Amino acid sequence: MTARPVPIKRNVDPRGSLAILTRPHEIPFEIARIYWVSGVPANTPRGFHAHHATRQLAVCVAGSCRLLLQFTDGTEQWADLGADGPAVPIEPMVWHEMHHFSADCVLLVLADRAYDEADYIRERATWENACHG
Ligand code: TYD
Repeated sequence: MTARPVPIKRNVDPRGSLAILTRPHEIPFEIARIYWVSGVPANTPRGFHAHHATRQLAVCVAGSCRLLLQFTDGTEQWADLGADGPAVPIEPMVWHEMHHFSADCVLLVLADRAYDEADYIRERATWENACHG
């Protein structure tokens, strides 16, 4: 299994850069929620969970970080996120971790539904059992 990182279109002129994400090409779902992560201390990974149903799209709008995706078939994929892209989909049941946040990283996440703690699988063993079931 694999995720398809999507290049981010940019409109660059002498006044700066304007980045564009459009549904459905880059954003494959209707957005219900947007959140962002910033101010992550050095050597502090985040994530370490999967979702039962939530679909997400991760976009680094400043700085950089690395996203690890682990799929139910045992494959994994690293994605380098930076202000130049790409946008990376995080689909249901994909275990994800974010590592190597730069001090200035702002990681924006678009999601297709409201926050619901019951949609999280935070226990690694629970996720692994679900993969094999
Ligand atoms: P969490 O998803 O665990 O963060 P990360 O994946 O970056 O490690 O969320 C951190 C906390 O914020 C946790 O207590 C849940 C809460 N939270 C919300 O209240 N609403 C949200 O939309 C999100 C994403 C998290």
